[in-house]
Amino acid sequence: MNKISSKKGVVFVCDSCGAVYAKWAGQCGACEAWNTLREQVQTRVATAKGGPLGLTAHRLSEVDVEQSPRISTGLQELDRVLGGGLVPGSVILLGGEPGIGKSTLALQAVSQISSNMSTLYISAEESLEQLALRYRRLSLPDDGLQAITTGELEVALSLIGNSDARLVVVDSIQTMHTDRVDSAPGGVGQVRACAEILAEVAKRDQVAILIIGHVTKEGGLAGPKTLEHLVDTVLYFEGDATSRYRMIRAWKNRFGAVNEVGIFAMTEAGLKEVRNPSAMFLSGSSDESAGRSVLVSQDGSRPILVEIQALIDQSSLGSPRRLSVGYEGARLAMILAVLHRHAKLNALDQDVFINVAGGVRIAETAADLAVAAALLSSESDRPIPVGTAFFGELGLTGEVRPVARGEDRIREAIKLGYKRVILPAANIPKMHDEGNKRATNIELTAVRHVMDLRDLLRGGA
Ligand code: TYD
Ligand code: MG
Repeated sequence: MNKISSKKGVVFVCDSCGAVYAKWAGQCGACEAWNTLREQVQTRVATAKGGPLGLTAHRLSEVDVEQSPRISTGLQELDRVLGGGLVPGSVILLGGEPGIGKSTLALQAVSQISSNMSTLYISAEESLEQLALRYRRLSLPDDGLQAITTGELEVALSLIGNSDARLVVVDSIQTMHTDRVDSAPGGVGQVRACAEILAEVAKRDQVAILIIGHVTKEGGLAGPKTLEHLVDTVLYFEGDATSRYRMIRAWKNRFGAVNEVGIFAMTEAGLKEVRNPSAMFLSGSSDESAGRSVLVSQDGSRPILVEIQALIDQSSLGSPRRLSVGYEGARLAMILAVLHRHAKLNALDQDVFINVAGGVRIAETAADLAVAAALLSSESDRPIPVGTAFFGELGLTGEVRPVARGEDRIREAIKLGYKRVILPAANIPKMHDEGNKRATNIELTAVRHVMDLRDLLRGGA
């Protein structure tokens, strides 16, 4: 594809995947869709003072480094995920499925901030009455939050320009449209163009802009996925429809760590922070049943104990099912292969299900040992004694490998009254001798190989 544009400032953007081309073509080279390229004038907003800025290069060592000031949202869980609060002039994309609570969270955060600075809520989804009704229902402080209902980007821009708002919410990017591009409303072209313009305005006017974007059930963010590179921070709001807990996760963050998770509970009075979520994702039942194990997960800066459930059952299908909720399917396949080869667990004609309780999604490899334990327990129909927790990674040869933050995990298990942690040998703290064992009242059992795990569980661990 010719990279040199014939008409200056004009590009062609695929309406279905957002790929950008200099020349029109009948088929998109990236997603192979036909007739989806639309002409788009490159949207550049002139810098306020005109002319290019910063023409001299500087020695990095001589550049003044100031911590970017942060605006607290009044919600500690959200601030932490943001890396300490909102950064002025930054653009944040808040994605999530419809109905998960994005508007509620944005309204709560912005109303907190509005007691200190001017804020603006631009909604193209709800009428002013609906917004006001929700505002009252949430009993938010009356601090002069301004709101408007419009889907026209040009109207929104002139409002932002004419107000002294330092934080603007755009709810949602899919319902905004601009005259500057000639593509279908709601299409990727429109979504991208609107976000690009908003990002430039944010930088130019030093306004923080929170863009809300809907994610489709399939996970393919119809639009927002293509915005990730345009914005500074991408947050995803997720949760199980049946559970009132909601997790907000930083997916990308130029101003903080990306594995932080903030936890909220949806109540009649809006989202409430869950400051100490550690034990929340345990199913709570204390009876012993086979196929259940507890993982000490360390997602972001704090540990969370999560229950892993496994079910292995005779399949009636030609090709047995492998179903995994909250845990990566490919990883499950790997663990099953390792268990088959090294621990004599034969699940070739069995259906295998894994479920992470409470709608949690576990991405760290430290979950391997807990998943393997739950599988072995289900297969042998032997429950794992209550009060036992696991963490550790499995290698293809069956070896159990150490994971990061082992001591923090152990401490959390102790705090929650666990009696035993089964973990990689290399994660046993050096200080943990007989004396310490008595002092902390926890038994640390090292496993070096998946065979050790199997023997331990068979032995009625
Ligand atoms: P909402 O913020 O509108 O979701 P989104 O903007 O992501 O589409 O939240 C919608 C859901 O939250 C809706 O099902 C009702 C529920 N909800 C409560 O349970 N309590 C509340 O106080 C509010 C405002 C909403
Ligand atoms: Mg909404």
